[in-house]
Amino acid sequence: MKKVYIKTFGCQMNFHDSERLLGLLNAQGYSAVEDPRDADLIIFNTCSIREKAEQKFFSQLGRTKHVKRRNPSVKIGVAGCIAQQRGEELLKRAPHVDFVLGPQNISRIGEAISTERSVITEENEELHTLDIPAFRKKGVSAWVNIMYGCNNFCSYCIVPYTRGRERSRPADSIVSEIRMLVSEGYKEVTLLGQNVNSYRSETDFVGLLRMVNGIEGLERIRFVTSHPKDLGSDLINAIGELDKVCEHIHLPLQSGSDRILRLMNRKYTMQDYLKKVELLRATVPGIAITTDIIAGFPTETEEDHQATIRALEEIQFDGIFAFKFSPRPMTKASEMKGQLPEEIRLERLNEILRLQDKITERKNALLKDKTVEVLVEGSSESAPELFTGRTRTNKIVNIRADRPLMAGETVKVRITTPHRHSLDGIALS
Ligand code: SAH
Ligand code: SF4
Ligand code: F3S
Repeated sequence: MKKVYIKTFGCQMNFHDSERLLGLLNAQGYSAVEDPRDADLIIFNTCSIREKAEQKFFSQLGRTKHVKRRNPSVKIGVAGCIAQQRGEELLKRAPHVDFVLGPQNISRIGEAISTERSVITEENEELHTLDIPAFRKKGVSAWVNIMYGCNNFCSYCIVPYTRGRERSRPADSIVSEIRMLVSEGYKEVTLLGQNVNSYRSETDFVGLLRMVNGIEGLERIRFVTSHPKDLGSDLINAIGELDKVCEHIHLPLQSGSDRILRLMNRKYTMQDYLKKVELLRATVPGIAITTDIIAGFPTETEEDHQATIRALEEIQFDGIFAFKFSPRPMTKASEMKGQLPEEIRLERLNEILRLQDKITERKNALLKDKTVEVLVEGSSESAPELFTGRTRTNKIVNIRADRPLMAGETVKVRITTPHRHSLDGIALS
């Protein structure tokens, strides 16, 4: 058996692409290893969303020079968003790289490893029609692609340039993939797309949710990501109505300032966003709402920043991912006048994170002594006598129980001690 080592950076979509690279490579006689020194094939599945992600990859790539010196027959490939963005340049810059494979072409991994120094980065019009096998770690939760690419061109974002145009997979092939996953023991799926609200095949996203909700044996449905501009009351009603769809939505706000939102090309105002949050909370009691925030977008004034701070205080998110603005190649925002110095971006980011820490802590504290439903994922890694799982609202729970809990079982848990990033509780049955 040949051995492959895959190092993945970036978003869930990229991690799922790695599962599919592995699925394809399994069919060619490869099995996965944890140490690059044991591998015949090393693949970096890369992310270019922010400069830091890119730097991390380049420093790790540099280190594999020695691996190749010791073992000249090892093949090294770059996949993912940096592969797409830089293409040919990667081969020139790093002579020890053997191939470059963009995210729209993972099905051509066989060709990439068997051809000398190939660069496969064409736009792939067929991607959404391919059923590419995935090799998933055994578990209770699986990722499922429902669409590829993005057409939104938010002015800061590189994804539309690396993942290409938006394309939806046919609903029936999504449903048959999930049926198969359920027959293998998975209980939860996370439907993946850059903007799931614009899913469209023979049906729309709400139609797809209804179909998936009807799959027997499946217990939970999650999805990422929703774009606020396309989140309609039909989807909000469906979240409330469909029993398997979890009470959690990730709804990236990015900024609390209308002026900045306009410059970001987000196509909604703070008022629009607040209305949707209100409707979500009125229609889906107890729903958890999380978001993404960018600190220090070009031209952002202290006043704009304070509008974001006020938005966080007003909305009281369950959790956020916040990032310093990072200028990305090809994007409009990278060329805007009024780029802010690193110190200001960092200062604002820290203020955002400090505030949200308090909010998350306060929100989680409200769960003390409440009973929640947890899907058990297994034993806790840090404390083997404990079990771990997630609430429907996507909060991590460490569970004490007087019997062994099985991965995949759903238990009622009383929360004893809430923390900021997790909850401790006792299984009630
Ligand atoms: N499609 C998803 C998110 C993709 S990227 C969506 O629209 O929400 C995930 C997050 O990274 C974004 O929500 C944004 O907050 C952040 N991000 C994207 N480009 C960035 C950049 N150039 N600098 C800083 N953060 C960025
Ligand atoms: Fe990027 Fe915007 Fe598309 Fe999300 S919706 S991937 S932030 S361009
Ligand atoms: Fe994902 Fe990073 Fe590409 S966030 S879509 S891997 S740029």
